[in-house]
Amino acid sequence: MTEVKKYFAVIGNPIHHSLSPQIHATFAKEAGLLIDYEAVLSPLDQFKQITEILISQKLSGANVTLPFKKEAYQLATTHSNHARIAEAVNTLEFRDDEIIGYNTDGIGLVRDLAQNIKINLTHKKILLIGAGGAAEGVIFSILEKKPIDLTLTNRTIEKLIAIKNRMHGYAQNLHVNLNMIEIAKIPHQYFDIIINATSSSLNEADLYIDNKVFHEKCLAYDMMYGKETPFIRQAKSQQAKTTDGIGMLVEQAAESFFIWHHIKPQTKSVIESLRTK
Ligand code: ATR
Repeated sequence: MTEVKKYFAVIGNPIHHSLSPQIHATFAKEAGLLIDYEAVLSPLDQFKQITEILISQKLSGANVTLPFKKEAYQLATTHSNHARIAEAVNTLEFRDDEIIGYNTDGIGLVRDLAQNIKINLTHKKILLIGAGGAAEGVIFSILEKKPIDLTLTNRTIEKLIAIKNRMHGYAQNLHVNLNMIEIAKIPHQYFDIIINATSSSLNEADLYIDNKVFHEKCLAYDMMYGKETPFIRQAKSQQAKTTDGIGMLVEQAAESFFIWHHIKPQTKSVIESLRTK
């Protein structure tokens, strides 16, 4: 029997920089699967129409990236637990008349920390900077790992309050202290892991975190990748350990791949090859 080629896409705006086609092609090759995975640029006001065209062209699934994760959540007819809580979707599966929405970002982050960086979040003190979609997408996955506490901070206090209020009940159910703090008041040398989930690095902006927040035993994790960010430079200057978001990118892709193909791909070599590029 000849294998039927399946079609996938990543939809975003902009999209030319996306590494997802390359990552999924590598996973598929390793798994011996025949797939076609392309990057699709959607005009900002046409995400729904573009996705519906792709569905009519028999697409099996799609990844969704900025700025459409909320719209993908709205479009999905069924949601995974993580997608429902984040109210954002980065992976769609098209099955019969159903559009199933998943969010694999948080799983990608915690798996990168656990498997690649070998850091267990349980009993750790974690600071998450940012209150946009990127932060929202990972909070529940962090809480599930039961750190001692998770502290949220953000430039804009109103957004911080809104995200804290929304996640409060989940933290309570999981018996994790969920705190919030102004950037200027972050305690010195307290946190084990400091995660930058802001988009500040896109324009090389400083986060105005006091140098003393960092220390040599903490890990500074930037969800950004591709170039060294001001956040990573600052952490390094204080002898903190650092990592970029390449591992998270590959691990979230691996989880999407698993959802679509029921095969867990090897990620280590893919991460290494993307880092050395
Ligand atoms: P995303 O979906 O990538 O998270 P977003 O929803 O626009 O995008 O959120 C961007 C995040 O980066 C926010 O937390 C934003 O802070 P504000 O809520 O104060 O806007 C943060 N951010 C962007 N540029 C920043 C900068 N120069 N300094 C500090 N925080 C910044």
